[in-house]
Amino acid sequence: MNFFSKTTPLHKIEADLVVLFAFEDENLEKLPVNSTFINDIVTVSKKEQFLGKTGESLVIYTRGALPTYKLIILGLGNEKDFDAHSLRNVIARATKTAMKLKAKKIAILAKEEWFRTLNTMLVGQAMVEGVSLGGYRFLKYKGKEEKEGHVKIDEVIFIVSPNKISAFDNGMQIGKVLSSATIYTRDLVNEPAMVTTPTFLAEKALELGKVSKGTVGVKVYARDEAKKMGMGAFLGVSQGSDEPPKFIVLRYKGAGVKAKIALVGKGITFDTGGLSIKSAEHMMTMKLDMAGAAAVLGVFYGLIHLKPNVEVVGVIAACENMPSGKALRPGDILKAMNGKTIEVLNTDAEGRLTLSDALSYVAKEKPKAIIDMATLTGACMVALGEEIAGLWGNDIKLTEKVTKAANLSGEKVWEMPLPKEYKDLIKSDVADLKNIQTGRYGGAITAALFLEEFVEDIPWVHLDIAGPAFFEKESNLIPKGGSGFGVRTCLQLLLDY
Ligand code: BES
Ligand code: ZN
Ligand code: ZN
Repeated sequence: MNFFSKTTPLHKIEADLVVLFAFEDENLEKLPVNSTFINDIVTVSKKEQFLGKTGESLVIYTRGALPTYKLIILGLGNEKDFDAHSLRNVIARATKTAMKLKAKKIAILAKEEWFRTLNTMLVGQAMVEGVSLGGYRFLKYKGKEEKEGHVKIDEVIFIVSPNKISAFDNGMQIGKVLSSATIYTRDLVNEPAMVTTPTFLAEKALELGKVSKGTVGVKVYARDEAKKMGMGAFLGVSQGSDEPPKFIVLRYKGAGVKAKIALVGKGITFDTGGLSIKSAEHMMTMKLDMAGAAAVLGVFYGLIHLKPNVEVVGVIAACENMPSGKALRPGDILKAMNGKTIEVLNTDAEGRLTLSDALSYVAKEKPKAIIDMATLTGACMVALGEEIAGLWGNDIKLTEKVTKAANLSGEKVWEMPLPKEYKDLIKSDVADLKNIQTGRYGGAITAALFLEEFVEDIPWVHLDIAGPAFFEKESNLIPKGGSGFGVRTCLQLLLDY
């Protein structure tokens, strides 16, 4: 898909479809088309009872009034509620409509009113993201007919006023990278677990190193090396699987580095639960359990293209959680890299085990901040639903930074507490910690408290993305399946650091 910005007026644009927008109760006579055609628009809008509400749309045939044959007007809802998130959504809706109408070249008019509340760069960024993310489908395994029926938009022209075009273009460039990085992650999560093995994730990381032409260095540690480093918790989880575990480390260094940031992603390539096996229903979507790892890889994909002035170390402890004669048993005791011992009482609470070694590994390097992304607990979904990630942090400044980046990118996060009093719930009778809590409630919190045991005193944010990493029902911007959650928040954060 190619994006262009142009200052050309509508009556000179040739496309398959023109997209305009109207706020609720807006006077359509002010739309920027010629006066005879505007009468047609007003008549049709009255007939169709188009009021400009969110979700409403109007299709109009231009019959020679414009070089473009078809025009749609989409409702934006109340002007005072309009923000970058609504912009991405309505652009995604426009894209879907265009695809349904089989338009290959579309022109979208950026509305002047948007620039009153949103900065010009952000409008450019959000418009590209809306088109790219809204038009995404995972069709790799579909038949020819369905693939061909899915009309791909070749060319998107954003029409912008001349005084804004330069900042708008800068935003567009960022939007392009952020969306391709998100799509890179979506594709990885949507692939079945038979493909995305730990070895495959390691290969993807090495491939990123190669295409980066030297800006990203990648090192993959095999089982023996991980053992030498003392990663008993990670290796414990991996031991039931025939797939060899891979401890993957990516390093990016920009010019004029301001800070070193560590990113850690949960990389369970399939979570059966192990001997504490999941039900068939709960296991069905468990290829998603490497979404944190896929997000880290997506961020590196973005870093290669954006080249921000930061240093980033990305860590993925990749393995499969399988039951077998070699599998971890409930009651087994593991020793993590930082020396802490863990009694494993439920082999399905495996994410915190692999993360304990990944976090210990990065903490040793004393980065300025650690951010982990993990599809860690069903409890977080119970608390916040499918669209919002839980956010825990031990440093208010970092928490605020990540929240701000998430808000800018339209990924929803909500801060949750790290209460010291709950630490008792994960104390073991026989080891330093146990991997499940005493009692039924607050499971996402005790999981976060468990992770905190491995970050030393380094500013750290934990994102439990169990809900938003994978959509079971489609939304405007995200079809069913992997969402790429976390990629845009992290890249936005690293860009603004
Ligand atoms: N990978 C799951 C968490 C999960 C559940 C992610 C649903 C996405 C959707 C994790 O490893 C897990 O199984 N957690 C258990 C923890 C429990 C045994 C303490 C859970 O949430 O049930
Ligand atoms: Zn599990
Ligand atoms: Zn898991």
